[in-house]
Amino acid sequence: MAERPVAIPAPVAEHRLADYRPPAFLVDTVDLIFDLDPKATRVRATLALRRNPAHGDAAAPLVLDGEDLTLNAVAVDGVALDAAAYRLGEHGLVIADLPDACTLDTDVTIDPAGNTQLSGLYVSGGDFFTQCEAEGFRRITFFPDRPDVMARFSATLVADEARYPVLLSNGNPVDRGAMPDGQAWVKWVDPHPKPSYLFALVAGMLVSVHDEFITASGRTVALGIYVRQGDEDKVDHAMVCLKRSMRWDEEVFGLEYDLDIFNIAAVGDFNAGAMENKGLNIFNTALVLARPDTATDADYLRIDRVIAHEYFHNWTGDRVTCRDWFQLSLKEGLTVFRDQEYGADTTDASLSRIEDVLRLRGFQFREDGGPLAHPVRPPAYRKIDNFYTATVYEKGAEVVRMIRTIIGADAFRRGMDIYFATNDNTAATIEDFVGAMHEASGYDFTQFMRWYDQAGTPAVSFAGAYDAEARRYTLTLRQATAPTPGQAEKAPFVIPVALGLIGPDGQDLAGTIDGETVAGTRVVLLTEAAQSFVFTDVAAAPVPSLFRNFSAPIRLSGYDRAQLAMMAAHDSDGFNRWEAGHEYAVQVLLEAIAAHQRGAGFTLDDGLRDARAAALDQAAAAPALAARLLGLPGASTLADRMAVVDPDAIHAVLTAARRAIGGALQARFQAIYGQTAYDGAFAVDPASVGRRALRNACLAYIMAGDEAAGIALAQAQIAADTTMTESLTALALLVDTTSPARDEALAAFHARFQGDALVIDKFFAIQAMSSAPDTLARIEALTRHPDFDIRNPNRYRSLVLAFGYRNALWFHDASGAGYDFVARMTLAADQVNRSVAARGMEVFADWKRYDPARQDKMRAALDRIIAANDLSPNTREMAERVRH
Ligand code: ARG
Ligand code: ZN
Repeated sequence: MAERPVAIPAPVAEHRLADYRPPAFLVDTVDLIFDLDPKATRVRATLALRRNPAHGDAAAPLVLDGEDLTLNAVAVDGVALDAAAYRLGEHGLVIADLPDACTLDTDVTIDPAGNTQLSGLYVSGGDFFTQCEAEGFRRITFFPDRPDVMARFSATLVADEARYPVLLSNGNPVDRGAMPDGQAWVKWVDPHPKPSYLFALVAGMLVSVHDEFITASGRTVALGIYVRQGDEDKVDHAMVCLKRSMRWDEEVFGLEYDLDIFNIAAVGDFNAGAMENKGLNIFNTALVLARPDTATDADYLRIDRVIAHEYFHNWTGDRVTCRDWFQLSLKEGLTVFRDQEYGADTTDASLSRIEDVLRLRGFQFREDGGPLAHPVRPPAYRKIDNFYTATVYEKGAEVVRMIRTIIGADAFRRGMDIYFATNDNTAATIEDFVGAMHEASGYDFTQFMRWYDQAGTPAVSFAGAYDAEARRYTLTLRQATAPTPGQAEKAPFVIPVALGLIGPDGQDLAGTIDGETVAGTRVVLLTEAAQSFVFTDVAAAPVPSLFRNFSAPIRLSGYDRAQLAMMAAHDSDGFNRWEAGHEYAVQVLLEAIAAHQRGAGFTLDDGLRDARAAALDQAAAAPALAARLLGLPGASTLADRMAVVDPDAIHAVLTAARRAIGGALQARFQAIYGQTAYDGAFAVDPASVGRRALRNACLAYIMAGDEAAGIALAQAQIAADTTMTESLTALALLVDTTSPARDEALAAFHARFQGDALVIDKFFAIQAMSSAPDTLARIEALTRHPDFDIRNPNRYRSLVLAFGYRNALWFHDASGAGYDFVARMTLAADQVNRSVAARGMEVFADWKRYDPARQDKMRAALDRIIAANDLSPNTREMAERVRH
């Protein structure tokens, strides 16, 4: 080996999609040996390396990523390298003059117990866990830590047998043994090539619950869920969800599980929700553990979705992964689409779609309309951890959905088959996915690709004209997308519009377009800035029901109240029936907010009240839908529609509306509340979930209309101690009051659930979201509560982010104290966990949409964060983008 200096490439401040270059070396196999010790774990790695002809430079050095590693030794083909033969920097290791194929051995020491970033190998509750996506594997060993390097892995875990009886990694255990000093070892081999971000290791004193799944082709898969002792009675639901997901993917996509073992491990300290490591998913405990008395129905549903999501990644993510992190939506958007479809198929399709769209609007539209807006495929990033966003995930799923809407379900399914056949065991791009869809359908996606490359939510408006004599209806649609950071000009999108024409009797009307007569829902494509669609043989003047089932992620405007009321009552599309009622409520409440700002009092709109009364008529037949229809648009939905957001006016009007509806329909709410009492059996079927949701909605209106009656019922509901769904809503309603019942109930709740971390998270979150006047002082006090721990992401999120995201009233308190609280907590969190701290900057993202006084205070909070000289690059990137 020539001893000449090797330049260390400067760490790239900004990564650009346009700069993609294939890796200089590929790794065929990697064999790892872990000597697990909390303070000093030794990792020995053997890499079989091969030059990659696709890189283009046959003399390129080997560049290995590495972070927070202590290098003990490095050898090439068995010969130890002396320090002159490599360059070791803060970001990795560079070795020049390597042969075209060689074996590299490295030996490093890491400190899992000191790893508060929770990226790489870390300790939680005394046990070992990993999180490697996106760039955590480089914190375990030196490696080309990029997803287009796919290798076959083995991992030998060596640990004290008494303390770490469970030793898990990807694939199958092939060998094990004991050593004289009380150490034991297990060797795992994963037969499938995978990128380093899918590596996982779990070691500890865990208990497990086992089951099995017989695949469509008759293979038996051993299923295991590993949790801490005492939690084993909270995994039944997750196991049911896992088996249901495995079956669904076989039935709907023809995708079978491909290993003999599928394990899930739950960890209480976790930066994200869950992780799809091959054969060994690692989950935040919040997304595994559920028992009726500790988890709400919303938790049960979320767990179902996330179990499905991570399982579905086995094909969309693991078997076909991403070439680079710009393609993140290739796996995330597609997998969210798949988990949404699973949810629609296994629960109520319309309700499931409504919840998904509310989530999209609540997070993604907000992101897309502010300084953090970025395309589904971002062109550049500083820290990839900052791009696990609602846009990449939820908008990415909508883009996949639009592809299916445009080419049809059959062609879409064929396209999926082609995608797997063509890209199996490779690291693919979004072009590969869309190319498969083109091959299956013949559709030209050139213009459609703008959905991946242009940020921003298109605004769509419409106008209709009916010519009675000609029986002709002309629908004109217009689209426009506002500029987003770095993209001043927007070209028109291809927007699939699923629509129906509703006649005066409320029924769908037939109409002919492009020679085709359809009476129900059809799809037209809006491809220009403005475009007219002419329907002939239309019997009467219709109301167009547009974007049925939310066929595109756009903002639609143009309906008047009479049209909305008609559609809410009659639209044949379940989603649009809800949507029309929701839009009606938004318009009425925005008007009430404007009146409030002029100093006028609140008067309850008859239509708003009557729609709630009509929902109560459906209470017995469709309780879940009734509960959904009873609700009012949230504060963030109203804020989203105001030119200058006025959080005090929004709160005042929402409170007044709830009080007025609760007063007007008090007797009916009380009656239905009485009829929906606990029926003795806990089940998560739609009828039971619906009953509880309806009961809770009634309780909230009873409380709003008659506080004394509400407090008494809430106390009784808690005392009945039926399910967390019922207890938590009752507690949250009490926490919004200043009644002495509040502190009594909180103290009792804390005492009852002390030691159950996930329930204590709820204890923090409901206080953080309270509208009570002393909330700011109380959340300050909660930071000094013995159960508050800034190092635990769930606890941090349950106090700081629940406050920032879900307490518009007090976060935006005119004093600026709410901003100051989040800024201080962010700076403190940044010292321990930069990825969790960075996410908190999102709560400031719409700062320019407030009045000048609040803008000044939010800008000052951001400037204080940016001025901190030891700020992490993660939080710096987010704060600077938001501040811009
Ligand atoms: N791939 C995981 C999932 O969506 C999430 C990983 C999150 N990683 C991160 N750095 N935020 O299922
Ligand atoms: Zn995912």
